[in-house]
Amino acid sequence: MSVWAILVAAGRGERLGLDRPKVFANLGDEPLLAEPLRRLEACPWVDAIVLVAPPGWEEPAILLAEEEGCGKVRSCVAGGETRSDSVRAGLEEVADDAVVVLVHDAARPLVSDEVVGRVLAPLSEGWDGVVPGLPVGDTLKRVGGDGGVEETVARDGLWAVQTPQAFAADVLRRAMASDKLSQATDCAGHVEAAGGRVKVVEGDPRLLKVTTEADLETVAGWLA
Ligand code: CTP
Ligand code: MG
Repeated sequence: MSVWAILVAAGRGERLGLDRPKVFANLGDEPLLAEPLRRLEACPWVDAIVLVAPPGWEEPAILLAEEEGCGKVRSCVAGGETRSDSVRAGLEEVADDAVVVLVHDAARPLVSDEVVGRVLAPLSEGWDGVVPGLPVGDTLKRVGGDGGVEETVARDGLWAVQTPQAFAADVLRRAMASDKLSQATDCAGHVEAAGGRVKVVEGDPRLLKVTTEADLETVAGWLA
């Protein structure tokens, strides 16, 4: 079974607000992108990696992959306007004989072998996709533009979903090609829209997505 990972790193990082894309922000004393690259490279379940870089940043991304000795990186391509476009660009580079595609946000640096193992396992039971998630702990309210509460949403059965997300390669290809209209913000959303069955397994709080400076400091603290 060949497992290809698409590492999506092409976002602008507007909320972090640096003069460079978020994946080139400093995490400790190296670019954030180095951490997830190294971890996927070392992951025994991953056979090959496609790196999706911010447009214009392909070269520094390739150089970093070379510096880190990432021999599994088969290709580095520029991403698109949305995350879904970036995943589509990455999928173009995945070999036809890939059986499984694992899509991971570079903005979640602390991907682990354990979580990769957890998302891969149920694929052999016939699930189309498997995503890591954490049950929502806080009370959820829908709030209007004026700050007024419109409703309290029952949180039973609600999970916050992370990456890496694993898919049967043919299912993901078909879903990403057919579902161009939904506003899905993750790959699983596209697979669901195309009628696929997606399972949620236990995620990891350390898969925090770096969005702000405080998140960067939190992840740097976990690494220290
Ligand atoms: N991503 C991507 N291509 C895009 C948008 C996002 O590859 N057009 C990637 C990001 O690089 C990140 C992941 O998808 O690894 C999740 O996106 P997000 O956390 O929103 O990152 P950014 O879009 O970079 O940040 P912001 O929304 O603050 O601009
Ligand atoms: Mg974004």
